[in-house]
Amino acid sequence: MESKARIAVIGAGLMGHGIAWIFAAAGHEVRLQDPDRGMRDAVGQRLSDISELLDRAPNAAGQVQPTASLADAVADADFVFEAAPERLDLKRELFARVAELAPAHAILASNTSALPITRIAEGNPAADRIVGTHFWNPPHLVPLVEVIECEKVNEAAIAPVMALLRAAGRHPVHVRKDVPGFIGNRLQHALKREAIALVAAGVCDAETVDDVVKYGFGRRLAVLGPLEQSDLVGLDLTVAIHETLMPDLDRTAIAHPYLRARVAAGDLGMKSGRGFRHWTEETAGAVRKRLADFLAAEARNAARGGEN
Ligand SMILES: NC(=O)c1ccc[n+]([C@@H]2O[C@H](COP(=O)([O-])OP(=O)(O)OC[C@H]3O[C@@H](n4cnc5c(N)ncnc54)[C@H](O)[C@@H]3O)[C@@H](O)[C@H]2O)c1
Repeated sequence: MESKARIAVIGAGLMGHGIAWIFAAAGHEVRLQDPDRGMRDAVGQRLSDISELLDRAPNAAGQVQPTASLADAVADADFVFEAAPERLDLKRELFARVAELAPAHAILASNTSALPITRIAEGNPAADRIVGTHFWNPPHLVPLVEVIECEKVNEAAIAPVMALLRAAGRHPVHVRKDVPGFIGNRLQHALKREAIALVAAGVCDAETVDDVVKYGFGRRLAVLGPLEQSDLVGLDLTVAIHETLMPDLDRTAIAHPYLRARVAAGDLGMKSGRGFRHWTEETAGAVRKRLADFLAAEARNAARGGEN
């Protein structure tokens, strides 16, 4: 891969501006397309804010060119990252236009959270160059990017995306099949299913579930993955625990009735003041700040040579 690539990012929202910053900070030329003038006008300040947060030179803002025109954004792009709203029809239409407007060598990536990449690429003449790149929010602070392969893709499209992301300080992983939720959200929601079932069954309250994770096994999760941990304690112990535990774990195959009941009652979480727990503006603000400070400190540490 060339050391300096031409990158197009589609959509300058929550995810798109962070993705643009990542590649600009890595020295690439970035064009950031958004039809909304307000979003384009806000880009410079938002990029400068990220540079400041991460103690980085403010050069990234200057290396990102906002544009309203999709044709201008992708005309000479080597890589296109789509971060437009999560609607299948919109993404399919965007990828159809990008396939016509971008160079034939360009690799086209979608940041969809949950739509199958296979459906986005279906019938697209560039389907052999369409991959998923699932960044996590905020993309400039959370290093993981799931790179999703689907049936029609030419495997040769995966390695350059992985290399580009790695060189930009991300931690890409290769997801070999386009399964719903990819890897991270499947794991995250498997945990949530059991967490909700425990509260619904009256075993504990929501705060206790959160404490068990934060003050217990969550402490080691950032340095010891679940399968590494199984290897550490031994697979024989893991199988013994599973024999007892697996028959008892929740296996509700839809959104849990307890969760649906909360939503029906208007308990939507921090935005409504009540979800699984009660929130005031102050307590919700404190959680957001604690998270942002923690992620920023980790990202600054990684940029100074710590591990990603
Ligand atoms: N927010 C998250 O936590 C998160 C995490 C991972 C992935 N994603 C995915 O990333 C994508 C973007 O999400 P977001 O949270 O940044 O959304 P967002 O609403 O903040 O940003 C979307 C941007 O796309 C622009 N847009 C609308 N129509 C467009 C078009 N036709 N062409 C180009 N741009 C258009 C909007 O003006 C807006 O600026 C979605 O697919 C979402 O599911 C989001």
